[in-house]
Amino acid sequence: MTWPAPDDVIETFVREVVATRKYHDICQDTVRDVIATALPKYKRPRDAIKAARTKLHRIQAAYLGQTEIADHLDEIAGAHRAGDRDRVKAICRRLMRDHASTRERIDLLDRFYRDVFAVTGPPRVVLDVACGMHPLSIPWMGLPDDVVYHAYEITGGLVDCLNGFLTALGLAGPDGSDLVKLQDVICTPPTEQGDLAFLMKMVPCLERREKGIAVRLIDSLRVDQVVVTFPVRSLAGRSKHMPEFYAQTFAEMVDGHGWRLIQVPMEGELVFAVDKRTA
Ligand SMILES: C[S@@+](CC[C@H](N)C(=O)[O-])C[C@H]1O[C@@H](n2cnc3c(N)ncnc32)[C@H](O)[C@@H]1O
Repeated sequence: MTWPAPDDVIETFVREVVATRKYHDICQDTVRDVIATALPKYKRPRDAIKAARTKLHRIQAAYLGQTEIADHLDEIAGAHRAGDRDRVKAICRRLMRDHASTRERIDLLDRFYRDVFAVTGPPRVVLDVACGMHPLSIPWMGLPDDVVYHAYEITGGLVDCLNGFLTALGLAGPDGSDLVKLQDVICTPPTEQGDLAFLMKMVPCLERREKGIAVRLIDSLRVDQVVVTFPVRSLAGRSKHMPEFYAQTFAEMVDGHGWRLIQVPMEGELVFAVDKRTA
């Protein structure tokens, strides 16, 4: 039995995946990387394709519901122009319920950034790595008016909505340029320079894709501080020993880098500030 050439399998897989409704706007680098990594591990391409589909679901689809951000951009822009911060927050809070990671954080928003920035200092240039809907929390961050907020995400529709959101808040890049990028941070790590990066609830997902990648990514980010967080319960709601497990695993991962690791006490999320300047 002869199998098709790996490059043909990869390109056919990418074409088929992005032709589906579920993955029509996923970053193609992600799809290509997942199948290219799976192929050498299986004898039959069919099995690699099945494994790659399962992996794609865990990487992206498992987290996404429908987002209605686009429908509310005018309302957000209007409330922002009118200086009605409470209205902006009320809309964002409602929208954040569409994404598991931000939904779990809604009750913490009032103190989350106050407590985190008390440790790291307030940033002026932020990198939000694998952001999901996290930029919708900007109204709670108390950032300066001239903050530059870069973000990276593999879901095209969400990237467009978030660029619209930054524009609505008057935070788009120079000449209205997009600061949220359709970018797979494993295939293309961010190169922008900043003060602080958020790497929120992403380490387990990154490590499942490529062992050791989380620390390599933290190391490569051109920032002094990285806020790394972990979920304290699984998407299915199980929480047994997860905080202890992740706290120990992360301490082992960063061991030897000379970074200062400070845990920021928070209910509902395990939060670390990694200060790389001490290295
Ligand atoms: C677990 S959620 C975390 C979202 C956000 N950081 C938070 O805590 O609210 C994972 C998000 O990262 C995106 N994602 C997964 N892998 C990625 C990658 N390699 N590069 C960029 N984004 C990625 C997914 O599409 C999803 O929106």
